[in-house]
Amino acid sequence: MNLGITVSILGVVLGLIFWIMRKTRSSKEFKNMSVYESFTSMLFRPRSNDIHYQFFLRNKVDGFYKCWFGTKLLYVASDPDAAQWMLSLKESSMVKATIVQLPSTNVLTDGNIVSVDGEVWRRQRQIYNPAFNNTAYNSYFTSFDSTVNHCLHKLHDMSFRSAGQVEDVNVVPLMSKFTVDLLGKSIFGYDFLSLDGKLDEYYNAYKVLINFGFTRILFTIFPFLDKLSLPYSKQVRRSIDQIKELFSIMIKQHSAPDTYFNDMLSHMLDASKTQEGAYLTEQEFFANLFILFVAGHETTSSALSWLFYELAKHPEIQEKAYQEIKDVLGDKSPSFDDLEKLEYVDKIIKEGLRIHPPVALLPGRRTLQDLKYKDQFIPKDSFLGINIFIIHHHPEHWENPFTFDPERWNKDKKHHRFAHLPFSLGPRMCIGSQFSLIEQKLFIIKFLQKYELLKPKTHQLSGKVGYTLNLNTPDNVWISLKERKN
Ligand code: HEM
Repeated sequence: MNLGITVSILGVVLGLIFWIMRKTRSSKEFKNMSVYESFTSMLFRPRSNDIHYQFFLRNKVDGFYKCWFGTKLLYVASDPDAAQWMLSLKESSMVKATIVQLPSTNVLTDGNIVSVDGEVWRRQRQIYNPAFNNTAYNSYFTSFDSTVNHCLHKLHDMSFRSAGQVEDVNVVPLMSKFTVDLLGKSIFGYDFLSLDGKLDEYYNAYKVLINFGFTRILFTIFPFLDKLSLPYSKQVRRSIDQIKELFSIMIKQHSAPDTYFNDMLSHMLDASKTQEGAYLTEQEFFANLFILFVAGHETTSSALSWLFYELAKHPEIQEKAYQEIKDVLGDKSPSFDDLEKLEYVDKIIKEGLRIHPPVALLPGRRTLQDLKYKDQFIPKDSFLGINIFIIHHHPEHWENPFTFDPERWNKDKKHHRFAHLPFSLGPRMCIGSQFSLIEQKLFIIKFLQKYELLKPKTHQLSGKVGYTLNLNTPDNVWISLKERKN
């Protein structure tokens, strides 16, 4: 190789090392996670929460710590006060920032509500709001109810396949199918029929785009791989085209005269016609339909799977929930209004989201000016995040943080408001939180009315974290069922 080229490459490599060392050099204000630990926690996701938590305990982290997230250096809030400070920053001090994205997916994600700010965000929220209020949820309820029934039938068939025998079922893939089918129907009246095992071409394309397996993580950390036109990139591009085709068909169907749909897209299209100044461009419509799936699918599926895990481990908690359901509802299927009457089930769901927050590490803000949090100086153009997992297990805020204890939500127990933030907090908190809570609650109630949840007979219950980027999905949760005699 030509000497000039060799020297240039060496120069670039040394420069990069110097830059990384400068950025991560220990300062007394911040504890810095090493490059090795940061990357191990990204690449070996199942250990990620543990790596961050052990780092936090070992270093007695206070306020923010620094770690690498892909190629970005992230300032991570590790306690409720730091999270509150960050989530209360004014728009003039910080903006939303997409810090991990597979490059070729931009065409589908640019301009979605999660990534925009200021006036554009307010304009988009105007379109969203009518699809996310109690009247809308009440109107989706029939669809919620029938999809839960359908899923429970599938679960029954899988468990009692052969006469006289009960088989273990892994609920993780089942919950993933349940939540995507329900989202398809709620967003634009499309049934992916994934619970029925139908190989829907659009569902397959969607799965390619949301799969955060090892290849995807590599491509995200090293975006230049996408330029090499490898088979994976081609598959991603094909999938994007298919998803855009589905979205175009749906928008066209919903826009046809004299048609009526009871779903989010119809509310959004209505809002764009009736509310002054509210609109989404065509690209924004694509990006927002896509983000609704991404934001609402694996998150709720993970929350439900973890609930199965905890209820299987704690028969006494399950029994208490069942007694409440029996007292309030008997055998009657709950109506929308019944849901709020079941307070203990609420506590179980809240505790599930605390101990297993579906979004474990929330990245996604960039500072627009130099900022100071207590004695920590955060320069302009830094990326900010929140480690929700650490906050939800913070030893100063939670007694026995790794114990699943719904009673900690009794009214007499007080918590820092920002010590529990599975959906984030502040103006940018999750708009779909109620949607997800209704979905989880209805499922758990109807499930417990029919079945007792038991530990698996031939498998391990498992509950290790699976392979996703910053989510907290379990890899497997095996359970076994016993039908209740009513
Ligand atoms: C257990 C389930 C869920 C969890 C844990 C969750 C969590 C989150 C979190 C942490 C954020 C980021 C907030 C921030 O950046 O400060 C978020 C935003 C968002 N979520 Fe969820 N989410 C869930 C379910 C859903 C569902 C079911 C939907 C829709 C059907 C949804 C739609 C959204 C949207 C649109 C945003 C962006 C809001 C905005 O920026 O205005 N999420 N969610």
